[in-house]
Amino acid sequence: MVRVSFRPLAHDDLPDVVRWRSQPHVLRWFADLVPDLDTALQRYGPHLEGRTAVRLWVALLDEAPVGFFQHFPVASDDDIAVKVQDPRAVAFDYLLGEPSLLGRGWGSVMVETFCREVLVPRCPDAPRFVALADARNRRSLRVLRRCGFSQGLWIQLPTSDFAEIVCTAPRERFEASVEL
Ligand SMILES: CC(C)(COP(=O)(O)OP(=O)(O)OC[C@H]1O[C@@H](n2cnc3c(N)ncnc32)[C@H](O)[C@@H]1OP(=O)(O)O)[C@@H](O)C(=O)NCCC(=O)NCCS
Repeated sequence: MVRVSFRPLAHDDLPDVVRWRSQPHVLRWFADLVPDLDTALQRYGPHLEGRTAVRLWVALLDEAPVGFFQHFPVASDDDIAVKVQDPRAVAFDYLLGEPSLLGRGWGSVMVETFCREVLVPRCPDAPRFVALADARNRRSLRVLRRCGFSQGLWIQLPTSDFAEIVCTAPRERFEASVEL
Protein backbone atom coordinates (compact mmCIF):
# COMPACT_ATOMS: atom_id res chain seq x y z
CA MET A 1 0.00 0.00 0.00
CA VAL A 2 1.34 3.47 -0.92
CA ARG A 3 1.94 5.70 2.08
CA VAL A 4 1.72 9.52 2.25
CA SER A 5 4.13 11.20 4.67
CA PHE A 6 5.85 14.54 5.22
CA ARG A 7 9.37 15.68 5.99
CA PRO A 8 10.74 19.22 6.48
CA LEU A 9 11.74 20.85 3.21
CA ALA A 10 15.50 21.30 2.69
CA HIS A 11 17.57 23.42 0.31
CA ASP A 12 18.09 20.35 -1.89
CA ASP A 13 14.34 20.21 -2.51
CA LEU A 14 14.20 23.69 -4.10
CA PRO A 15 14.72 22.43 -7.70
CA ASP A 16 11.62 20.25 -7.23
CA VAL A 17 9.74 23.24 -5.80
CA VAL A 18 10.67 25.35 -8.84
CA ARG A 19 9.46 22.57 -11.16
CA TRP A 20 6.21 22.12 -9.24
CA ARG A 21 5.56 25.87 -9.01
CA SER A 22 5.97 26.06 -12.81
CA GLN A 23 3.26 23.52 -13.62
CA PRO A 24 0.20 25.05 -15.33
CA HIS A 25 -2.23 23.59 -12.77
CA VAL A 26 -0.25 25.34 -10.00
CA LEU A 27 0.48 28.63 -11.81
CA ARG A 28 -3.25 29.19 -12.12
CA TRP A 29 -3.69 29.48 -8.34
CA PHE A 30 -0.35 30.78 -7.01
CA ALA A 31 0.14 34.34 -8.20
CA ASP A 32 3.76 34.83 -7.06
CA LEU A 33 6.05 33.23 -9.64
CA VAL A 34 8.98 31.01 -8.63
CA PRO A 35 10.56 30.39 -12.05
CA ASP A 36 14.15 29.60 -10.99
CA LEU A 37 16.40 28.60 -8.12
CA ASP A 38 17.47 32.17 -7.28
CA THR A 39 13.86 33.24 -6.87
CA ALA A 40 13.17 30.12 -4.80
CA LEU A 41 16.10 30.93 -2.51
CA GLN A 42 14.91 34.50 -2.03
CA ARG A 43 11.34 33.35 -1.45
CA TYR A 44 11.96 30.34 0.80
CA GLY A 45 15.46 30.92 2.22
CA PRO A 46 14.29 32.92 5.27
CA HIS A 47 11.74 30.21 6.09
CA LEU A 48 14.32 27.42 5.67
CA GLU A 49 16.70 29.26 7.98
CA GLY A 50 14.02 29.57 10.66
CA ARG A 51 13.91 33.38 10.47
CA THR A 52 10.14 33.45 9.99
CA ALA A 53 7.15 31.64 11.46
CA VAL A 54 6.54 29.77 8.18
CA ARG A 55 7.37 26.05 8.16
CA LEU A 56 7.87 24.21 4.87
CA TRP A 57 7.22 20.53 4.13
CA VAL A 58 7.65 18.08 1.31
CA ALA A 59 4.85 15.58 0.72
CA LEU A 60 6.10 12.08 -0.08
CA LEU A 61 4.31 9.24 -1.80
CA ASP A 62 6.28 6.36 -0.35
CA GLU A 63 9.78 7.82 -0.76
CA ALA A 64 9.02 10.04 -3.78
CA PRO A 65 8.68 13.84 -3.27
CA VAL A 66 5.43 14.90 -4.95
CA GLY A 67 4.22 18.09 -3.29
CA PHE A 68 4.81 21.12 -1.15
CA PHE A 69 3.02 22.28 2.00
CA GLN A 70 3.57 25.26 4.29
CA HIS A 71 1.98 26.39 7.53
CA PHE A 72 2.18 29.47 9.74
CA PRO A 73 0.22 31.04 12.60
CA VAL A 74 -2.54 33.27 11.23
CA ALA A 75 -1.41 35.98 13.66
CA SER A 76 2.08 36.03 12.09
CA ASP A 77 0.81 37.33 8.74
CA ASP A 78 -1.04 40.67 8.77
CA ASP A 79 -2.70 40.11 5.40
CA ILE A 80 -4.00 36.64 6.31
CA ALA A 81 -4.96 37.74 9.83
CA VAL A 82 -7.22 40.46 8.45
CA LYS A 83 -8.81 38.06 6.00
CA VAL A 84 -9.27 35.11 8.34
CA GLN A 85 -10.33 36.94 11.53
CA ASP A 86 -9.16 34.01 13.68
CA PRO A 87 -5.81 34.94 15.28
CA ARG A 88 -5.40 31.65 17.16
CA ALA A 89 -5.73 29.48 14.07
CA VAL A 90 -2.89 28.08 11.95
CA ALA A 91 -3.05 28.57 8.18
CA PHE A 92 -1.68 26.25 5.52
CA ASP A 93 -1.16 26.11 1.74
CA TYR A 94 -0.51 23.10 -0.43
CA LEU A 95 0.16 21.81 -3.88
CA LEU A 96 0.51 18.45 -5.53
CA GLY A 97 3.25 19.14 -8.06
CA GLU A 98 3.18 16.06 -10.28
CA PRO A 99 0.49 16.44 -12.98
CA SER A 100 0.31 12.67 -13.54
CA LEU A 101 -1.01 12.24 -9.98
CA LEU A 102 -3.88 14.74 -10.20
CA GLY A 103 -7.50 13.69 -9.85
CA ARG A 104 -6.70 10.35 -8.21
CA GLY A 105 -7.52 11.25 -4.64
CA TRP A 106 -3.95 11.99 -3.53
CA GLY A 107 -4.63 15.68 -2.80
CA SER A 108 -7.34 14.73 -0.34
CA VAL A 109 -5.18 12.09 1.35
CA MET A 110 -2.28 14.56 1.54
CA VAL A 111 -4.37 17.33 3.17
CA GLU A 112 -5.94 14.87 5.62
CA THR A 113 -2.54 13.37 6.51
CA PHE A 114 -0.87 16.80 6.79
CA CYS A 115 -3.50 18.02 9.25
CA ARG A 116 -3.31 14.83 11.30
CA GLU A 117 0.42 14.11 11.25
CA VAL A 118 1.95 17.61 10.98
CA LEU A 119 -0.46 20.31 12.19
CA VAL A 120 -1.88 18.41 15.18
CA PRO A 121 1.52 17.64 16.77
CA ARG A 122 3.38 20.75 15.56
CA CYS A 123 0.72 23.34 16.37
CA PRO A 124 -0.59 22.22 19.77
CA ASP A 125 -2.11 25.62 20.61
CA ALA A 126 -4.07 26.06 17.38
CA PRO A 127 -7.76 25.28 17.90
CA ARG A 128 -8.49 25.53 14.19
CA PHE A 129 -6.78 24.89 10.86
CA VAL A 130 -7.49 27.31 8.02
CA ALA A 131 -6.92 27.33 4.25
CA LEU A 132 -7.84 30.16 1.89
CA ALA A 133 -9.00 28.97 -1.51
CA ASP A 134 -9.87 30.96 -4.60
CA ALA A 135 -13.62 30.62 -5.11
CA ARG A 136 -12.95 29.33 -8.65
CA ASN A 137 -10.60 26.56 -7.39
CA ARG A 138 -13.30 23.93 -7.27
CA ARG A 139 -10.83 21.07 -7.06
CA SER A 140 -9.19 22.48 -3.94
CA LEU A 141 -12.52 23.43 -2.38
CA ARG A 142 -13.69 19.86 -2.99
CA VAL A 143 -10.56 18.50 -1.29
CA LEU A 144 -11.08 20.78 1.71
CA ARG A 145 -14.75 19.87 2.03
CA ARG A 146 -13.88 16.20 1.79
CA CYS A 147 -11.36 16.66 4.62
CA GLY A 148 -13.95 18.27 6.91
CA PHE A 149 -13.35 21.98 6.27
CA SER A 150 -16.35 24.34 6.33
CA GLN A 151 -16.59 27.39 4.14
CA GLY A 152 -16.81 30.67 6.08
CA LEU A 153 -15.96 34.23 5.10
CA TRP A 154 -15.73 35.18 1.44
CA ILE A 155 -12.99 37.78 0.85
CA GLN A 156 -13.46 40.06 -2.14
CA LEU A 157 -10.48 42.33 -2.73
CA PRO A 158 -10.90 45.47 -4.86
CA THR A 159 -7.82 44.41 -6.84
CA SER A 160 -9.27 41.04 -7.82
CA ASP A 161 -12.27 39.90 -9.82
CA PHE A 162 -12.75 36.82 -7.70
CA ALA A 163 -13.22 36.01 -4.04
CA GLU A 164 -11.20 33.84 -1.70
CA ILE A 165 -13.06 31.57 0.69
CA VAL A 166 -11.86 31.01 4.25
CA CYS A 167 -12.14 27.26 4.92
CA THR A 168 -11.83 26.12 8.54
CA ALA A 169 -11.73 22.82 10.40
CA PRO A 170 -11.46 22.23 14.15
CA ARG A 171 -8.27 20.44 15.22
CA GLU A 172 -10.39 17.74 16.90
CA ARG A 173 -11.41 16.61 13.43
CA PHE A 174 -7.86 15.31 12.96
CA GLU A 175 -6.98 14.15 16.44
CA ALA A 176 -8.63 10.79 15.85
CA SER A 177 -7.78 8.83 12.72
CA VAL A 178 -10.55 9.15 10.15
CA GLU A 179 -10.85 7.01 7.04
CA LEU A 180 -11.57 8.99 3.85
C1 LIG B 1 -5.70 21.04 -5.08
C2 LIG B 1 -4.92 19.77 -5.40
C3 LIG B 1 -3.92 19.48 -4.25
C4 LIG B 1 -5.91 18.62 -5.50
O1 LIG B 1 -5.20 17.44 -5.76
P1 LIG B 1 -5.91 16.17 -6.46
O2 LIG B 1 -5.11 14.97 -6.12
O3 LIG B 1 -6.13 16.47 -7.87
O4 LIG B 1 -7.29 16.14 -5.69
P2 LIG B 1 -8.21 14.86 -5.44
O5 LIG B 1 -8.07 13.90 -6.57
O6 LIG B 1 -7.96 14.35 -4.05
O7 LIG B 1 -9.65 15.51 -5.38
C5 LIG B 1 -10.09 16.31 -6.37
C6 LIG B 1 -11.57 16.51 -6.10
O8 LIG B 1 -11.95 17.59 -6.90
C7 LIG B 1 -12.89 17.13 -7.85
N1 LIG B 1 -12.55 17.84 -9.06
C8 LIG B 1 -11.54 17.65 -9.90
N2 LIG B 1 -11.58 18.55 -10.89
C9 LIG B 1 -12.66 19.33 -10.64
C10 LIG B 1 -13.26 20.43 -11.29
N3 LIG B 1 -12.75 20.97 -12.41
N4 LIG B 1 -14.38 20.97 -10.74
C11 LIG B 1 -14.89 20.48 -9.61
N5 LIG B 1 -14.38 19.45 -8.96
C12 LIG B 1 -13.27 18.89 -9.47
C13 LIG B 1 -12.70 15.65 -7.97
O9 LIG B 1 -13.88 15.00 -8.40
C14 LIG B 1 -12.39 15.31 -6.53
O10 LIG B 1 -13.56 15.30 -5.75
P3 LIG B 1 -14.13 13.90 -5.16
O11 LIG B 1 -13.05 13.38 -4.29
O12 LIG B 1 -15.34 14.28 -4.41
O13 LIG B 1 -14.38 13.05 -6.36
C15 LIG B 1 -4.14 19.89 -6.73
O14 LIG B 1 -5.07 20.06 -7.76
C16 LIG B 1 -3.17 21.03 -6.78
O15 LIG B 1 -2.04 20.93 -6.29
N6 LIG B 1 -3.58 22.16 -7.38
C17 LIG B 1 -2.72 23.33 -7.56
C18 LIG B 1 -2.43 24.05 -6.26
C19 LIG B 1 -3.68 24.41 -5.50
O16 LIG B 1 -4.72 24.70 -6.06
N7 LIG B 1 -3.53 24.40 -4.17
C20 LIG B 1 -4.60 24.74 -3.25
C21 LIG B 1 -4.54 26.19 -2.89
S1 LIG B 1 -5.89 26.57 -1.77
